Amino acid sequence: MSPDVPRVTCGALTAADVGRAVELNGWVHRRRDHGGLIFIDLRDWTGLTQLVFNPATNDTQSAVFRQAEELRSEFVVGVRGIVQKRPAGTENPKLATGEIEVAVESIRVENESKTPPFVVASDDEPAEDVRLQYRYLDLRRPRMQRNLRMRHTIVKAIRDYFDEHDFVEIETPNLIKSTPEGARDYLVPSRVHRGTFYALPQSPQILKQILMIGGMGRYMQIARCFRDEDPRADRQPEFTQVDVEMTFVEQDDVLRMMEGCVRYVWRRALGAVIPDPLPRLTYAEAMTRYGSDKPDLRFGLDLVDVDDLFRGGAFGLFASLAESNDNRIVAVRWPGGAALSRRDFDAVTELAKQFGAKGLAYVTFAPDGVKGSIARFVDDALAAALRAETRAEDGDALLFVGDARGAASDVAGKLRLEIGDRLGLRKPEDFAFCWVSGFPLFEKDPETGEITFSHHPFTSPAPGQEALFDSDPLAITAQHYDLVLNGYELGSGSIRNHTVEFQRKVFRRLGLGDEQIEDRFGFFMEALAYGAPPHGGMALGIDRIVMLACGESSIRDVIAFPKNQMARDLMMDAPSTVPDQALRDLGLRIVQPAPVT
Ligand code: AMO
Repeated sequence: MSPDVPRVTCGALTAADVGRAVELNGWVHRRRDHGGLIFIDLRDWTGLTQLVFNPATNDTQSAVFRQAEELRSEFVVGVRGIVQKRPAGTENPKLATGEIEVAVESIRVENESKTPPFVVASDDEPAEDVRLQYRYLDLRRPRMQRNLRMRHTIVKAIRDYFDEHDFVEIETPNLIKSTPEGARDYLVPSRVHRGTFYALPQSPQILKQILMIGGMGRYMQIARCFRDEDPRADRQPEFTQVDVEMTFVEQDDVLRMMEGCVRYVWRRALGAVIPDPLPRLTYAEAMTRYGSDKPDLRFGLDLVDVDDLFRGGAFGLFASLAESNDNRIVAVRWPGGAALSRRDFDAVTELAKQFGAKGLAYVTFAPDGVKGSIARFVDDALAAALRAETRAEDGDALLFVGDARGAASDVAGKLRLEIGDRLGLRKPEDFAFCWVSGFPLFEKDPETGEITFSHHPFTSPAPGQEALFDSDPLAITAQHYDLVLNGYELGSGSIRNHTVEFQRKVFRRLGLGDEQIEDRFGFFMEALAYGAPPHGGMALGIDRIVMLACGESSIRDVIAFPKNQMARDLMMDAPSTVPDQALRDLGLRIVQPAPVT
């Protein structure tokens, strides 16, 4: 269009521009025909401007009007016109440009659009698979525009924070050897070295440790990680971390540095003030009070142990469970729960079973006494003791889960979240961060029963626990910490093993023989042997940070091109087959799985 008319964006014009001739470019967001007038909301990345087409003004206008009649949703147009005030009473205070409209004098269609599979301008949520297949249309919606902008703001704030603290951003390669983080590797076959494979990094863990050995001191990276595991709402096969490592630090130094980062990010991106310092819980405390190592601290309703109150009592099942310290009887308070019907409690019992409970016991308190599934075992003294321990009041219910310690904690923790949801206590605009530390170094693989690492094999044990390596490895506490927000693990880190002897001890304890250690980690063991400094660090999941900052419940909504729940890219149709020649070049042959008979 003519260069003498200034080009403005669709979110820019205000009442101060009335009378100006302007040019606007964008997409037809919405068209409304109103008794001889056509209104079009024109959209670009900055907002919307109302265009008005009036055939009555003169012949040229009438030609433009006829062009406007042909415009459909998502056509791309450039228009020229005069900014005018909207007639009194038709202003739209919700829109930045709501006081004005542009009377269009000329129009140029830059491109037409097929009828979109969903209406970009609508608030109705299209099916997710359709959104992902037509991601370019989904990205035009204000929600995705806002989320990706927030992502940019957050990543920029993260970079600024670490820059201010003398960190150096260093890129590490994506074609590497396996770095174990507990998932399967994505493998990339080598054409040049037939029969061999690169692994895509599950994280830059080993490389950042080698950077520390390389004297880099303070490293950070916005790093892409790849893990072949089943996607979930907070998990993608490909995701982004802010990965951090520092030399000559203790656990507390890393915690202070990292919580400074989230405090800075939340202030810059959301204008929110995050407590200083953040609350800290031990793993044992988190499991006892919240039944989870990623507790949601936006609300109370802490779990309460009531083994002592049921021991030797009339309710046989709990009385016998309470005899062993391997079990746990947990009470979860449900404020106002006495108003629930029998049928409601049946539904909650079903839910508890889905969570893994064998059953659920409950009582309710009211001025006229105790009711509920185990009321007949609860005499006045027990009722008073339960109320004292749990702070239950008239009108409340108590849910009881009795089981092996781990199972009881897990189910009770999930019930606590359910109650929090039902009472509206888990508001997305509240942010409750905490640290959880003091995890065990090793755990038993539930499938194989073998000892495996809880975090990754480079995490060091807490000082003074060497003796336990042979006698009671599962009792060793790790120098490992997690940052938790609203029930999500935002990040994880640890102080590392920096001597080759200690690293070897851990690998051996994990069941690796010297040959396997050499084969998989020889280069790393060699590096550790050349004066590796004490070091530690952490990685935060950027997708989860942005998801929570945006009030979303899936990281797919804050990633431009995510995979779906089946790990497929629906827009590109990946993964896909490749030409036979490509396979031959790589020396690969596809073996189809045997048919299931
Ligand atoms: P970890 O494996 O705990 O630690 O990962 C750190 C953080 O990365 C995020 N995250 C994910 N986000 C989306 N999709 C996934 N599949 C996914 N997996 C992990 C989480 C998690 O808390 N190298 C260590 C860190 C360290 O020790 O410094 C590591 O990667 O927010």
